[in-house]
Amino acid sequence: MIGRPGYPGRLFCIILPAMIIEQTIAYVKQELAGAEGGHDWWHYRVWKAAKQIAEKEGADIFVVELGALLHDIADSKFHGGDDEVGPAKARAFLLQLSVEPAVVDHVENIIRHISFKGGKEAATFSSPELSAVQDADRLDAIGAIGIARAFNYGGFKNRALYDPAIAPDLNMTKAQYKSSTAPTINHFYEKLLLLKDRMNTPTGKAMAEERHQFMQQFLDRFYQEWDGQE
Ligand code: ADP
Ligand code: NI
Repeated sequence: MIGRPGYPGRLFCIILPAMIIEQTIAYVKQELAGAEGGHDWWHYRVWKAAKQIAEKEGADIFVVELGALLHDIADSKFHGGDDEVGPAKARAFLLQLSVEPAVVDHVENIIRHISFKGGKEAATFSSPELSAVQDADRLDAIGAIGIARAFNYGGFKNRALYDPAIAPDLNMTKAQYKSSTAPTINHFYEKLLLLKDRMNTPTGKAMAEERHQFMQQFLDRFYQEWDGQE
């Protein structure tokens, strides 16, 4: 085989990405062991959804897979608010696997720019690959799973389920959003119900529609039960 023109190169191209994905999965599983329920390994529903979106939207699948797998490797919420721990950790991991520098840079940018933290942030990086991963991450925050994750997170933070006296705040700065102690129901108005209209891709938008309606039904029913009117 050796010496056959082009052969080793082509072989590397096929095998290496699959091996890198395998190693990334193993790394993420190990790093996220014991994470709270909204961010544990199962949050890698995002990986599957991102692949589906990327295939339909024609984004680079390898970059999308790495971005999706590594996007919450070190969430700033659990690292004293430091937004740079995640991108740096992913970068170090990928470089040690000898992943091409352009791919490493791209994945790092996806992780750095994926979060919509509420409020009014301007986007400073965009690519079809970020769009796919971001849509997939947003899908995991809405629908039945989104509801489960929200109340899980609220419980983790010891927040009230609902308090009719505390209105949602749609104009929080990033810092206020991060330190908010509002009831979990408010999070639906401050973030979850806004996500449908923030989807980047047509595929993501279509997937968000039904999940959005389900959240709306959930809220209607929640208030009915709250008021004893069901
Ligand atoms: P991700 O990192 O996956 O983009 P976040 O870190 O923003 O998402 O949040 C993780 C999960 O916790 C999401 O499902 C989100 O809706 C939920 N969550 C985040 N902040 C709150 C909050 N203030 N109240 C309730 N749920 C929240
Ligand atoms: Ni996420």
